[in-house]
Amino acid sequence: MEIIQVSNYEEMSKRAAEFLLKKIEQNPSLALGLATGSTPKGLYEQLILDRKEHGTSYEHVTTINLDEYIGLPASNPNSYHSFMKENLFRHLDIPLSNSYLPNGEAADLQKECTRYESIIDEKGIDVQVLGIGQNGHIGFNEPGTSFNQTTHITTLAQSTRQANARFFQSIEEVPKQAITMGIASIMKSSEILLLASGAKKAEAVHQLLSGEISEDFPASVLHHHPHVTIIADDGALSIVT
Ligand code: F6R
Repeated sequence: MEIIQVSNYEEMSKRAAEFLLKKIEQNPSLALGLATGSTPKGLYEQLILDRKEHGTSYEHVTTINLDEYIGLPASNPNSYHSFMKENLFRHLDIPLSNSYLPNGEAADLQKECTRYESIIDEKGIDVQVLGIGQNGHIGFNEPGTSFNQTTHITTLAQSTRQANARFFQSIEEVPKQAITMGIASIMKSSEILLLASGAKKAEAVHQLLSGEISEDFPASVLHHHPHVTIIADDGALSIVT
């Protein structure tokens, strides 16, 4: 695990963008695993800026997102389909046919999980971007999720719904379930880039770096992965000794 310490959110976003742009330069057909939420937003802004300034093309890039809420139409502003479209896809030249997110409205959600896992297997993720939940979740793999899980339907922890309520009018509106890549799906990617910013993530980053591996703290599985880079800012690393 390589740890890159930066001073703040902006620096984290810039370093992460440099990291990914280098990968795209080396492999224009990169398969990129993406996350939503506050953490990668600055990274996406940097990629958009780079596109404007340097014209980096994503024509041959494939993107595969971690998760999607169940029950929110893709057109709902709080769906992860909308998040990705607004914050990244519509600003790049990436063909929408190359961008994958789970369908949280599928009539047969089990079948959708199987379909999504086969996309992951077929495309093979080169670099997976991750944020981390305050409870150590990655994707929507909440504490207690088996490390052997592939893409599945998950019930969000109450603390996760609370943390995500900031995007909704009220906590009641936050969906209770999601489809998420499983821990085993995430571990299939060749390389992982985990980002963490701010004091709110300090406990989680501290626990991750303590090295103890347990299904009660999903991110700890990353110690089993051979190629993980963490870019974290001073706030996120504030209680790491
Ligand atoms: C998002 C995701 C989640 C978030 C995590 C942190 O697709 O899978 O694991 O990365 O909840 O969220 P933020 O970045 O909003 O603090």
